[in-house]
Amino acid sequence: MSLDILKPLREGFLQREEPATELPTRENHVRNNLILHLHPSRVPARALRFSYTWGLGGISVVLVVLLGLTGLLLMFRYDPRVEYAYVSIQQLETEVMFGSFIRAVHHWSANFLVITTFLHLVRVFLTGSYKQGRGVNWIIGLVLFVIVLAGNFTGYLLPWDQLSYWAITVSTSLMAYIPLLGTAVRNFFLGGPQVGQAALSNFYALHVVFMPALMLGFLAYHLWKVRKNGGISQPLLKEDEKPEFKSTNPHLVNIELAAGLVVLVFVGLWAMFNPAPLGSIASPLVSPNPAKAAWYFLGLQELLLHMHPLSAMFLIGLVGVALVGTPLVDRSDRDIGIYFRTAIGRRAAVFGALLALYLVPIAVILDEFWYDLPGWLPNVHTNVTVGVIPFVITLLVFVGVYFLLRSGWLFKNEKTNHSEAMVGIFAFIMNGLILLTIVGIHFRGQNMALVLPF
Ligand code: HEM
Repeated sequence: MSLDILKPLREGFLQREEPATELPTRENHVRNNLILHLHPSRVPARALRFSYTWGLGGISVVLVVLLGLTGLLLMFRYDPRVEYAYVSIQQLETEVMFGSFIRAVHHWSANFLVITTFLHLVRVFLTGSYKQGRGVNWIIGLVLFVIVLAGNFTGYLLPWDQLSYWAITVSTSLMAYIPLLGTAVRNFFLGGPQVGQAALSNFYALHVVFMPALMLGFLAYHLWKVRKNGGISQPLLKEDEKPEFKSTNPHLVNIELAAGLVVLVFVGLWAMFNPAPLGSIASPLVSPNPAKAAWYFLGLQELLLHMHPLSAMFLIGLVGVALVGTPLVDRSDRDIGIYFRTAIGRRAAVFGALLALYLVPIAVILDEFWYDLPGWLPNVHTNVTVGVIPFVITLLVFVGVYFLLRSGWLFKNEKTNHSEAMVGIFAFIMNGLILLTIVGIHFRGQNMALVLPF
């Protein structure tokens, strides 16, 4: 597709391409400065391949900007008092010009952002882009992911409908399981033991001030760090290979403008045909059945059906620590910038993902219809049967998958190295998490029993 339609948009950015025959206008000078603050003047030709990053970092930036703009507009009408919150959303939907559309854009941008940042994380991992001094930015990225989730979570309560009220009630009840501090932490966020006015005020303040400020600070640092690290990761050059560069303007600018426009059009059209949901007004006395957490926490909620909440939290914590420590335990730079590291790494990833595809549904079904450790071992404390044993089994599966990959037994005696095995275990865990989330969204009905969605 020709990008000529973008010509007028980038006209101002073109100063650096041609030798200047006349002095640049002040406006052009400012625009050029902006571009060259964000990017170097030249970028490696390889960095321009869309199929390397899939534009996921940039798309996430566009979504963050959309969220900020629509959020500001929503604040003009939203009223964070328990008696008025729901009504103010209803009025916004029915009485304000484009109110429903703006709310839908905000709602969907937030949900898409969870997906695009998750995929960005996956891409960064699979290309080993946390190597060569990028470890700090990887950790900043993980913080950004937590901020994205926390931003979504705090916004979830604001419409004050049944869905939001009960999702927050269910999710915050999990906080109480944090050892020693649980109840204090939950009461701190809710401003008391229950979801009420104090919780709404707290969540509102967190959502409109605290989270955006954190997002802005960490994102600015994240983008600055990408630049400081010499741009995005690249495979190492071969001995006789010369680096090929292209001018940022128009090559990179064109891609960014095109991707940005596609995102805007997509979100706009999506929001036009899919209004943001609004159920009936929150009623603390009538709990829906099933009462589910927000969709991005349903993987965790599903895990809770299979083990003690403390074990589930430890497991998630352990995966978090493993992600933070990844740059420390996988330091070889040889395979940076290459998807899956090597052909064997690719096979390890396929193996990990397929194994999860088999194991997770089987484990969920067995646990629903057959496995009953507390019943089989009535004399053993439930902390052991529901807590320790499932936790240890899951850990053993993780360790088993790693050593299976390292053993050479899987791929005709071709052993995977540490980095390739990590790709396999990463694919296993991430696909497992996705599958648990799908089960939680589509296959859980009344009383959280396993049901078919059709
Ligand atoms: C709001 C969330 C985020 C935004 C807006 C964002 C944005 C970006 C952008 C624009 C880039 C450069 C282009 C690209 O690689 O696509 C980038 C690179 C990077 N991001 Fe993020 N990011 C976010 C979250 C994350 C997360 C969750 C991680 C991983 C835990 C992460 C780790 C990195 C790393 C290591 C790089 C350098 C990649 C390389 O050198 O190839 N980011 N990010």
